[in-house]
Amino acid sequence: MAQILIFLGPPGAGKGTQARVVAREFGVPHVSTGDILREAARKKTGLGLAAKAKMDKGELVPDDVISPIVEERLSQPDCREGAILDGFPRTTAQAQFLDGMIERTGLGEPLVINIQVATDSVIKRLTGRRTCQTCGEIYNIYMSPPRRDGICDNDGGRLIQRADDNESAIRIRLKAYERDTLPMIDYYRRKNALRQIDGNGEPEVITERLLNLVKTHDYL
Ligand code: AP5
Repeated sequence: MAQILIFLGPPGAGKGTQARVVAREFGVPHVSTGDILREAARKKTGLGLAAKAKMDKGELVPDDVISPIVEERLSQPDCREGAILDGFPRTTAQAQFLDGMIERTGLGEPLVINIQVATDSVIKRLTGRRTCQTCGEIYNIYMSPPRRDGICDNDGGRLIQRADDNESAIRIRLKAYERDTLPMIDYYRRKNALRQIDGNGEPEVITERLLNLVKTHDYL
């Protein structure tokens, strides 16, 4: 039965940074809804262009657009053993959709991990983020810079700054997090399904905390 790990947390909590490492460790795909939407935007598909208009402003894409995309992605053969979900669900409606999907498809109950970071500490993380255009490696020009400015250490790819990593979009993303995602986190808390991880500290230390938690629950 496929085991799904869900990483929650505010923008800049380190969901993507950690999901990449943990997915590699367990040999399961890292399913990032943000990456899926950005890839669609890069390819200029209808979905991608509509999503880009929302994303660049920091607004959420509608639930009925993103939820079927996730269902389709999780039905791919590479997710047979499990997957790490990063960026989904992020509203209560999406969490309920996922519950329905679990019932319909026989997916296992997910392990839901909330990476806790104070929202006022994420601005520096987000404005300093740079991402490799080729392999997706995540850097931070203040805290974890590449060896050469603007160039990925792994493959020499160009590092880019996300269009929504400017202060005005970040403010809107944080508002969306407080308005739409915090109630969803409560939804999992009420179901007694929420596990918490302190997201402050060196990324390697947080990876250790996550791996220990996943192993304690005998996942993946
Ligand atoms: P998405 O791509 O999911 O963005 P997000 O949720 O805002 O999260 P981020 O990717 O900004 O943060 P992260 O927690 O992954 O941090 P990271 O590891 O990169 O979504 C983007 C948009 O797509 C949304 O606004 C929405 O429009 C749309 N969308 C996506 N999913 C959707 C959905 N389900 N429903 C509706 N719309 C959806 O780290 C950030 C920085 O911090 C990096 O520079 C990193 O190097 C640094 N860092 C990481 N860990 C540490 C650490 N421990 N200490 C210091 N620095 C650190």
